[in-house]
Amino acid sequence: MSLVTRVAVILALASPAAALASGGHDAVGCTGCHAIHTAKGEVIFAVAPNKTDINPKTKAPYSGTTALCLGCHEESNKGGQGYAPIHANLSHPYGLASVDPKVAKVPPELLRDGGRFECLGCHDPHPSNPNYKYLRVDTGAKGQNMDAFCAACHPIKADASAVATKAVLFTSMDETGNRVLKAGPAAPAAKPAAKPAAPAKR
Ligand code: HEC
Ligand code: HEC
Ligand code: HEC
Ligand code: HEC
Repeated sequence: MSLVTRVAVILALASPAAALASGGHDAVGCTGCHAIHTAKGEVIFAVAPNKTDINPKTKAPYSGTTALCLGCHEESNKGGQGYAPIHANLSHPYGLASVDPKVAKVPPELLRDGGRFECLGCHDPHPSNPNYKYLRVDTGAKGQNMDAFCAACHPIKADASAVATKAVLFTSMDETGNRVLKAGPAAPAAKPAAKPAAPAKR
């Protein structure tokens, strides 16, 4: 291989990774999602929560941070802005008030508001997240090691080798510099006691 060809090959191989390094939210920027004095939702969100898209599980609009994500990630005729729209009927469940412990064992740190399972259970959307598609787990540059991610919540179903590589969960929510979500104490099966903490009106 000539030097020129080699450089071309290296560049071609490097470009997908380079593209991923600046994910879609780099273009959005801090103030695309957070408004300093003109907030439209919790965490001083710049985009109003989506009140049009209906959660098929509850027959009501989504709540919390899921409604914020869907303020962008839905079709415009469904209350979003059409950026990479996400459809519940074609998707893994989200927007759940609680988790059935026979179906998934979600690390408690990934749940919100007393046990809710939101988009944030799987994604940490901050630009600092280096993982493929802003996932909580590193699945490789193209998501080729997806089983490691699934195993974070469905360990009984995954091959032991995928679980053995003990998933490191990414978080951007600790400004002390820690980007690893500490695994909670061997989750004593999501207690029904968590239920009263999820008021139906949210
Ligand atoms: C794609 C939308 C998005 C972008 C872009 C974004 N954020 Fe956020 N931010 C969120 C969401 C959602 C949360 C809540 C996360 C959670 O609860 O885990 C959050 C939470 C935060 C918090 C913590 C609030 C708290 O209660 O602890 C801070 C601080 C913050 N963001 C700052 C920033 C800064 C600085 C940037 C730019 C570098 C940024 N965000 C970019 C969506 C975004
Ligand atoms: C202000 C609008 C906005 C909000 C709010 C927003 N996003 Fe995004 N997001 C974008 C845009 C724009 C892209 C790039 C879309 C594209 O490339 O087609 C994107 C891309 C993504 C991607 C794909 C990244 C990649 O590397 O391909 C993921 C995953 C994602 N968003 C998750 C979320 C989650 C989870 C939330 C809620 C916490 C959220 N987004 C909130 C605008 C937003
Ligand atoms: C069970 C985990 C899980 C949940 C919950 C989840 N996602 Fe994702 N999401 C993924 C995975 C995995 C991918 C990457 C799929 C792939 O590329 O193979 C992805 C990809 C995406 C993308 C990129 C789509 C594209 O065109 O590349 C966006 C945007 C996104 N998710 C937003 C969301 C939003 C918004 C929510 C909540 C409404 C959500 N996700 C809930 C796991 C999840
Ligand atoms: C962060 C935790 C988390 C991750 C990661 C995760 N899941 Fe799930 N999964 C859940 C939760 C929560 C449910 C719904 C539990 C319930 O019904 O209460 C679920 C449900 C499911 C279901 C049942 C869906 C249905 O409609 O009955 C399947 C299948 C599934 N997950 C597959 C996957 C696969 C494949 C991956 C990896 C690509 C994955 N999950 C990653 C938490 C997760």
